[in-house]
Amino acid sequence: MTARDLFRQSHLALSLVPLTIRELFNLPSSPCDIYAYENESFKQIIRKGMYLDSKVLIGIIQAGHIKVFTHENERRTLTELQQQSLRTITRSFSMGNPHENCKKQLSLLTLNLRYLFEDPTNDETLNLQYQSLKILFKYLFDNPKKHEVIYQEFIKQGHHYIFTQPFVSALFLLGVLKHSHAYSEKDIENMFITSYFKDIGMSAIPVEKYDQEDLTENDKKILSNHADLSVQILQGRLQISPAHFKIIEAHHSFSTLRTEMERPNQKTNDLTISGFETMMVNITDIIAAMISPRPYREPTTLFQALDLVKILMSNQYPYEFKLIVNYFKNFFSNTVG
Ligand SMILES: [Fe+2]
Repeated sequence: MTARDLFRQSHLALSLVPLTIRELFNLPSSPCDIYAYENESFKQIIRKGMYLDSKVLIGIIQAGHIKVFTHENERRTLTELQQQSLRTITRSFSMGNPHENCKKQLSLLTLNLRYLFEDPTNDETLNLQYQSLKILFKYLFDNPKKHEVIYQEFIKQGHHYIFTQPFVSALFLLGVLKHSHAYSEKDIENMFITSYFKDIGMSAIPVEKYDQEDLTENDKKILSNHADLSVQILQGRLQISPAHFKIIEAHHSFSTLRTEMERPNQKTNDLTISGFETMMVNITDIIAAMISPRPYREPTTLFQALDLVKILMSNQYPYEFKLIVNYFKNFFSNTVG
């Protein structure tokens, strides 16, 4: 490398910020110069203004470059562009093919959740998520038969699991609550929104760290506190009731999955604090997490997930456990036996 190249490289390293290649999907042309990091140097792979099609982007992913780089100000332009797309689809959801709109909105919503994680105190970003989620909820509530295909298509979009988990978990919760015939549409909407935002406190740790199996002690400590952090982030900003904030606060009180992260003063199975709805939020979250792959483990089968849920709840709630089993067997009727 010549001295000039070296200078250029170190200048680039200082001015570039990371992004995911996924942020360029569904754009006609690139609003920014995109660089990949290869052989210890940054190489421009997409020029600003270049025509984009999914083949080009898939090729880049296949070459191992999901994480790419751009200039900081261009990243802002890109973020604004994607937020504008989400705003547009949210406003015009009822026009055209609703299923296609749902797919597109879900993709943009998940992209934008990344922006919220990067800047969780940004009111505009939070409000955009909330408004879009409400529109999406209405479609999902009215079309339960479409849930499985929406779920399968969403998984195929290949977002990072930190950003897929909130939707999958909230979708299952919506389905189970609707299946129970015990809640009004408004009740279910509030629970759906509560469940979706319950993990926003996880934004205290950079997303890349969630790919590691072993977090540092300090990261574990932050993570074990994420329910409280979520409440702190959302309090006074998200339109849900104090009871729903309580659910967020206690949404891991039932979990035995990552016991080392449990708060010592909280007993598992202590349902008197959290109530039945908290348990449902937690149970659907556990199932959503277990049946999805993580970078450090394979997914479990639905039956294994239900086995764990059985241990957690069937003694106290045999009827509700049957309801959950019934719901998930119906949900996956096309893919599981
Ligand atoms: Fe959580």
